[in-house]
Amino acid sequence: MSAEPLEIYLEEQDLGRGLREDVRTGLTAAPKWLPPKWFYDARGSELFEEITRLPEYYPTRAERSVLAERAGEIAELTGAKTLIELGSGSSEKTRLLLDAFTRRGGLGTFVPLDVSVSALRQSTEQIAADYPGLRVRGIVGDFTRHLHRLPAGGRRLVIFLGGTIGNLLPAERAGFLAAMRAALEPGDWLLLGTDLVKDPAVIVPAYDDGAGVTAEFNRNVLRVINRELDADFDPEAFTHVALWDPEREWIEMRLRADRPHRVRVLDLDVAFAAGEELRTEVSAKFRPEGIAAELAAAGFTAHEFWTDADGRFGVTLARAD
Ligand code: AVJ
Repeated sequence: MSAEPLEIYLEEQDLGRGLREDVRTGLTAAPKWLPPKWFYDARGSELFEEITRLPEYYPTRAERSVLAERAGEIAELTGAKTLIELGSGSSEKTRLLLDAFTRRGGLGTFVPLDVSVSALRQSTEQIAADYPGLRVRGIVGDFTRHLHRLPAGGRRLVIFLGGTIGNLLPAERAGFLAAMRAALEPGDWLLLGTDLVKDPAVIVPAYDDGAGVTAEFNRNVLRVINRELDADFDPEAFTHVALWDPEREWIEMRLRADRPHRVRVLDLDVAFAAGEELRTEVSAKFRPEGIAAELAAAGFTAHEFWTDADGRFGVTLARAD
């Protein structure tokens, strides 16, 4: 079966409006910041795929090993008819689940949701070609805004992998989980991937690799703003910074201005002091008891918690109460 046409809840103009609002809010704040969702244009999505193959970036491999080991159990326990993936990107690891559901039978529909049209186009076509008989309905949307658009009915399993939930700030995370629960019926399932707290000597290099791919990924947000908003950022005037915050147990990516300069964007004239840092991403790391507590607060019960052999990455299977 070929993939169905993408359902688009996020139009170019919404993306443009959202970007303008975020740029105005973030670049007039002190300290300056930008939300991480703007990394993922076609080039940013490719750079992220490249990151997942870096020796230092353990989360993808660790999560894949959990899914490889547990996919059969997940298919059996959930008996899902519809598999929904939030922030699906390439859906590469999702194939482990699709394979398990194919062996078990009963899964009818796969619904990947992502902000990146280019990533969705590729993944939906490839998955539809490789899983004949599976209905593939790609949704162009933002998982912080479009959960009410998810298809209803049947037994559903929503998967949110890669540790992407860690890119939300704690209050956003609580709001997201509550909205997720509101979009589900009792008995529906949520599979959540979370990177775990560990020695910063392991975490920091994952966000500051030797080949400089993460640095390019980080600077890509400036290229997106230049192109979309006709701004004049010089990405080469910024140094990539990855910093572990031991209190909040998260990694921050920042861009540090190498010299004092000004940037024109929208109707703003944004001044950067020498050494001033712009926060571009938070990537929170979790503890098992914290994950279960956040899920419980949102109306989910954690049924299974699995990690890879090194205990680096956690995958929780939770059920809507
Ligand atoms: C896609 C959100 C899982 O936070 O680890 C990778 C993005 N940022 N390197 C993460 C990312 C820097 C990644 N997620």
